[in-house]
Amino acid sequence: MKKFIVIAVLLTVCAMAFAGGGKDAGAGGGQPQIGVAIYKFDDTFMSYTRNAIENNAKGKAVVTTVDSQNAQPTQNDQVDQFITKKMNAIAINPVDRTAAGAIIDKAKAGKVPVVFFNREPFPDDMRKWDQVYYVGAKAEESGTMQGEIAVEYWKANPGADKNKDGVLQYIMLKGEPGHQDAELRTEFSIKAVTAAGIKVQLLAEDTAMWDRPRAVEKMDAFWARFGDQIEVVFCNNDDMALGAIESLRKAGFFTGGKYLPVVGVDATAPALQALSEGTLLGTVLNDAQSQGKATFDLSYALATGANPANAGWKVTDGKYVWVPYQKVTRDNYKDFQ
Ligand code: GAL
Ligand code: CA
Repeated sequence: MKKFIVIAVLLTVCAMAFAGGGKDAGAGGGQPQIGVAIYKFDDTFMSYTRNAIENNAKGKAVVTTVDSQNAQPTQNDQVDQFITKKMNAIAINPVDRTAAGAIIDKAKAGKVPVVFFNREPFPDDMRKWDQVYYVGAKAEESGTMQGEIAVEYWKANPGADKNKDGVLQYIMLKGEPGHQDAELRTEFSIKAVTAAGIKVQLLAEDTAMWDRPRAVEKMDAFWARFGDQIEVVFCNNDDMALGAIESLRKAGFFTGGKYLPVVGVDATAPALQALSEGTLLGTVLNDAQSQGKATFDLSYALATGANPANAGWKVTDGKYVWVPYQKVTRDNYKDFQ
């Protein structure tokens, strides 16, 4: 038994030494090692970002991507392992953005630079170390664009005000509470509508956690409760917008001229398909290709000791790369397919 334990320990040590080649002996023939943690693989938009990171790494770095399965404790363990293995840099999509501070402390102690992406840590945490970066998009911008899409529709279609009270009655399907994209898209979409001089009335708001099946359930309940009082459905992302459309289809919409405007964000492939079919009113491109590339480029620069400011992206406040959003409607969706 004792012998067995000794052998097991030796094997583990060897495996760790092999995997943890560190700065001088990367496993990919001298290529730097970058650890990437995604809050959960089962998220449409994150799967696009993840693919973009991995594609950009080809031939340049050894990327190890892990699924944090929507559990911060799991992700914390994964970060510990990346640090123990002496990864040259890590790129983290936090499960809970309030956990970023603790991740930064560990990374700093282990001298492993960090690039956060998609879920923005609080500014105080970002200031903890100069080897910490963030790649994302300005959530308020996407909200504003959603609002503008709804305004354009409202102004062009007098019938959109179904009860003719001059007020836009709406439903808001939110992403994860506390996520900057959920909070700010919710706020700024409506600000854009009121800024255009349109009065609004919130019928109901609830979270469907970015998730399509949950959005179907919520929308079923909203329809049962409010029916034709609903004039616009705002959704913090496309998966939820597609869920809302699925639900409204059951209520008889999108055939025989029966229509209800639903707006999303992300411009996923199924959302572009829905635009082409005339169900989804509009969406906003959340540019996964650029966000994934910027995340990789910054991580790679940090991993190789280069200056991230020269990685080909505009770095704001010494720490932030902001990728712009773009409005996507029936007029231009083909450019994004
Ligand atoms: C948002 C995106 C959502 C979801 C979320 C995950 O930017 O619009 O669809 O992927 O990130 O954090
Ligand atoms: Ca109305």
